[in-house]
Amino acid sequence: MIPEELEEEMLSHPGLGAVYRKLKEELAGADDTRSLEEIRVAYLGRKGAITSVLQGIKELPPEERRSTGRLANLLKQGLEEELASRLEGIRQRELEESLRRERLDISLPGRRVPYGTRHLLSSIIEEIEDIFIGLGYRVAEGPEVELDYYNFEALNTPDWHPSKSLQDTFYVEIPGSGRRDVLLRTHTSPVQIRVMESTPPPVYIIAPGKAYRHDVPDATHSPMFHQVEGLAVDEGISLGDLKGTLETFAKRMFGEDRKVRFRPHFFPFTEPSAEVDVSCNMCGGAGCRVCKGTGWLEILGAGMVDPNVFAYVGYDPEKWSGFAFGMGVERIALLKYGVPDIRFFFDNDLRLLRQY
Ligand code: PHE
Repeated sequence: MIPEELEEEMLSHPGLGAVYRKLKEELAGADDTRSLEEIRVAYLGRKGAITSVLQGIKELPPEERRSTGRLANLLKQGLEEELASRLEGIRQRELEESLRRERLDISLPGRRVPYGTRHLLSSIIEEIEDIFIGLGYRVAEGPEVELDYYNFEALNTPDWHPSKSLQDTFYVEIPGSGRRDVLLRTHTSPVQIRVMESTPPPVYIIAPGKAYRHDVPDATHSPMFHQVEGLAVDEGISLGDLKGTLETFAKRMFGEDRKVRFRPHFFPFTEPSAEVDVSCNMCGGAGCRVCKGTGWLEILGAGMVDPNVFAYVGYDPEKWSGFAFGMGVERIALLKYGVPDIRFFFDNDLRLLRQY
């Protein structure tokens, strides 16, 4: 605190000797900020011991003033330095302690929350919706667990029809009910009936959703798949309107250079009916695994609404006519993006799903 060679002089000084002795004693026992602060106040404060000595100098006999002033100032400066360095030491110690207590390893990288992406099938459905909304259609929905009446009967599908067999259709048992007419819908066409039942014509709707069939999975089949149904009913609707609408759709979806063909077909609820194919873009029409060597991929079934169907929903077939179509969303995705196998959509392999 003070130079060693002045120790003797300090201790024997009449006014400062006792102060110095006591100060050394108190400093020896002070090891926290509070006791150091108390010492500062007791010796260097306005009424502190060293301050008092300094203030009393002018009353001393002239021959004592010089040496007392020198020693007192030396002691004051020495104590200030001592306190500062002790406080610094305590601060350092406390910091080290709290670092040990609150150890936090900031060198580890944070955990990333992975972003999801929209599933390709959802994107395709939205794209189809956009095209038809642009043509004046609205989007309708219906239940996936359906009644035989909506899935078959009101769609003019007779009881002997093969798709009603147990091998083709997932029937749902409701324990204790004895009902045998509940099933997972085999297509989105029941939405046609539900909409017409509850809405007077004209009707322009598309109905996207899941459908279920008892199919063994392969490159182009899945027991659960997606369709988008379409229905237009108005005055004076003709087969030409159907062809124009589907051609417009195919070109907007696949590009102007895609070829479209209509093949005569049969559906119980449309007459006449057609299957509509788009040229296979996996092989350019030469034939490959996806198109099973034909060069064409069937993407939808379509036709003019059978007057018998109108009878079920109470529309006057003399006044109203219309067309309907149903397309497979997976097939459209296979075609558009060249996905080689329909099962990839449902394997939940992110390496594939992230590509789209
Ligand atoms: N529902 C038919 C199917 O799943 C497709 C279709 C819909 C055909 C509407 C004609 C009219 O195969």
